[in-house]
Order: sequence, then structure tokens, then C-alpha cells
Amino acid sequence: MTLPRSSGTQRALAEVLPAEILSAFDDRFIRSCDLVEEYVHRLAIGVFRDTGLAQACTQPTTVDEAVQRAGLVPAIASVPCSWILRTLAARGWIERVDDTHYRASAIPALDPEELVAAQEAHDPSCLPTYRIAALAAEYYPSVLRGDTTGEDALFAPDHIGTWLEYFSNANPLYAIVNTVGAIAAEHALPADGGTVLELGGGLGSGAEALLARLDTAGNGKSLAAYRFTEIVPAFLRRARKSLPEFRAGRPLSFTWLDIDAPFAKAGIEPGSCSVVYGVNVVHVAKDLAATLAEIRTALQDRGALVLGECIRPFADRPVYVEFIFNLLASFRAPLLVPAWRPNGGFLTPEQWHAALAGHGFERIEILPDIAALRDTYPSFLVAAITAHRA
Ligand SMILES: C[S@@+](CC[C@H](N)C(=O)[O-])C[C@H]1O[C@@H](n2cnc3c(N)ncnc32)[C@H](O)[C@@H]1O
Repeated sequence: MTLPRSSGTQRALAEVLPAEILSAFDDRFIRSCDLVEEYVHRLAIGVFRDTGLAQACTQPTTVDEAVQRAGLVPAIASVPCSWILRTLAARGWIERVDDTHYRASAIPALDPEELVAAQEAHDPSCLPTYRIAALAAEYYPSVLRGDTTGEDALFAPDHIGTWLEYFSNANPLYAIVNTVGAIAAEHALPADGGTVLELGGGLGSGAEALLARLDTAGNGKSLAAYRFTEIVPAFLRRARKSLPEFRAGRPLSFTWLDIDAPFAKAGIEPGSCSVVYGVNVVHVAKDLAATLAEIRTALQDRGALVLGECIRPFADRPVYVEFIFNLLASFRAPLLVPAWRPNGGFLTPEQWHAALAGHGFERIEILPDIAALRDTYPSFLVAAITAHRA
């Protein structure tokens, strides 16, 4: 079996990463990133067959034609199928005939389970990401045919445990975004503490990482308030149960908030927050401009927005995590803005800059600097974005 090799080394990264975050991106982590990417790509071969796309692409075929021939629902399947065709073509597993046409002939038989075994041997704590990717692969045919929705399939009650293990600081492949986000948020907090508003706090792993970071960096005791918010009531209930126990004595409060609605509905006063914080959430905003406007209104003068985000290194290149989240309508189909949101899902560094600078933010920093890293290490996908209210 030929497995991918890490294309970057920590030594190379040391030239571009601040020392503070270098240890998070160690060789062990980088190797896991390479393994999981290969795993997802191999799952995509199976989905390509199971959805009928392989059969639909025996002649040069556009994405739309393939979707139609395979009997999939265009409104659901176009984005995920485009991802699959572009990914398999980028790997050389199918042919990209021209800008819009793909052809499949001899698709390689590559077993995803080899990667599970390799990851198990290398670092089993990353396996929750594999389980979520496998879950997505299982549901691709039924979701793309319109038999169920991605939301209903992936978030069925019996899968909550799998998500808990995935969105966890014990899963290095997910925890990295919390780590860089917490470092950036801690830097952004005023020296005398302040009020944090967390958006889409989910099951609480981002808050857990930030509160732990504030403990070690010494700012924790001076927090005036930590307002944890989330749209899914069950997640909010769980976070309410687990977080106060985890950080007893903190000024934590728990509120339902929809980032697609005015924050006033959740009782957020204009100018009341020192830091608005969101880990892996703001990219799902239906109308990103409207959400950025709400965030800006919530911030104090010169307050900061800090986002832990998966970043798309190159505008036209699919990212492996999208294999999972392309099944969700909220992820793949937001309001598009050609200049800085030409597609759903993740944004590039340049698109984040344009979105933030265009909506009343300044001093925009991306840590680590994905734009500087991407030629050396194109699989580097996670960063914290900090932007101050102009
Ligand atoms: C990828 S999870 C991240 C959860 C959490 N930040 C963490 O890192 O553990 C995204 C979260 O955003 C929430 N979310 C999705 N749409 C939302 C919306 N419109 N308003 C608020 N939260 C939303 C989801 O319910 C989910 O908890």
C-alpha cells in the first residue's frame, strides 16, 4: 500500500508559524491530516460508484449531465457531485477532459479501510473524524436522491454520540481549530478582561478550549461575562450542563441565538461585547454580510471578532472536510456574493479579507497565515481570523 507522505515538515513550518502555535502543528498532526485526506478521497471513489456517477461519466460529461443521468436531485446533488468530480480528477483517478467535462474509465480500487488501520496505528484519537466521514459516505446515495436530507440523516439521534466524539478537544483533527481560535481570542481580549459572545457554541468544545486557555494565560478571572449561544436547543442544554462543571465560578450564561437573525432577538445589546467568538460557525451564515453587520453592532468600539475557521487555501480547490458538510443545505447553499462568496462552504484568506474589510472591520489577521503557507503545505486548512471593529 502506498500512503501519502506529509508534504510539510515542522522545520519548514517553523519559518512561517509563530512559535506559540507551532507545537499544535507537529509532525504527528500533519501526518494525520494527510491520512484522513486520503481516506476521504478513497471514500469518494465508493460514493462515485454507489450514486451511479461512475456509470454516468463513461463519456465526457458535465456535472449537471452526470447528476441528471444518475437520477440525482440537482438542487441537492450539484455541489457535492462537483466536489467529487473535481477531487477525483485532481487525484488523477478520473480524467478532466476540459474545463467542464469529466470522464471515468478505469477507476482505481483503493480500500479506505487501509487508512483506518494506518490512522489507528499512528494516532487513534483522530478516528472520530473517520467515523463521521464514513457516516456521510453511507448517506450520500439517499441524500443525493432526495430520499432524506443531510440534516436528518447525519443528525439523527443515534448519531449524536459520533458527533460528540468528533467535535471534541480529544480529537486532534478537530481540536486544532479550537486551539488556534483560543490563542487568537485570548490575544484579542482587553487586558482588563471583557465580555465574550460565543456564536454557534455547539456542544461546547470551543468554549472549553478558550476557558482553559484563559486559565493558563491568566485572563480568565477578569472575564466580565461569557455569553455562550447556540441555535440547536439540545446542544445548548448539553453545553449548559457540562461547561459550568468544567469551569466552576465562571460568569457563564447560555442563550439561544440564530446568527441569521438580529442578535437583539437573543437580548444582545449593541456595543456590549469585547470579543465575538465563533468556531466553525460563521461560514454557514445564510447571508454573511448580514451576520457580519450583526456582529459589528454587538461589538464595543474597537472590539474584535475572532473566528476559528477551516480555510480554503485556493479558490478552485475542494477541501476534504467538504465531503461531509456538502450534505447539509445550510453549508452548501448560502447567499452568494461573486466578489467574496462565490460558493458555499469555506472561504479563502482573500475572501475573508474582502468580506470583513467590506463590512466595517479592520486590522484583519489570519493565524497561521494560510496564504503564506499554502504553496508549501496546501493541506493546511485551519486558522483563526481576527478582525477589529473599524
Ligand atoms: C461545526 S459546529 C461547531 C460547534 C462549536 N463551535 C465547537 O467547536 O464545538 C457548528 C455549530 O454552529 C451551529 N449553527 C449552525 N447554524 C447556526 C445558526 N444559524 N445560528 C447559530 N448557530 C448555528 C450548529 O448547531 C453547531 O453547533
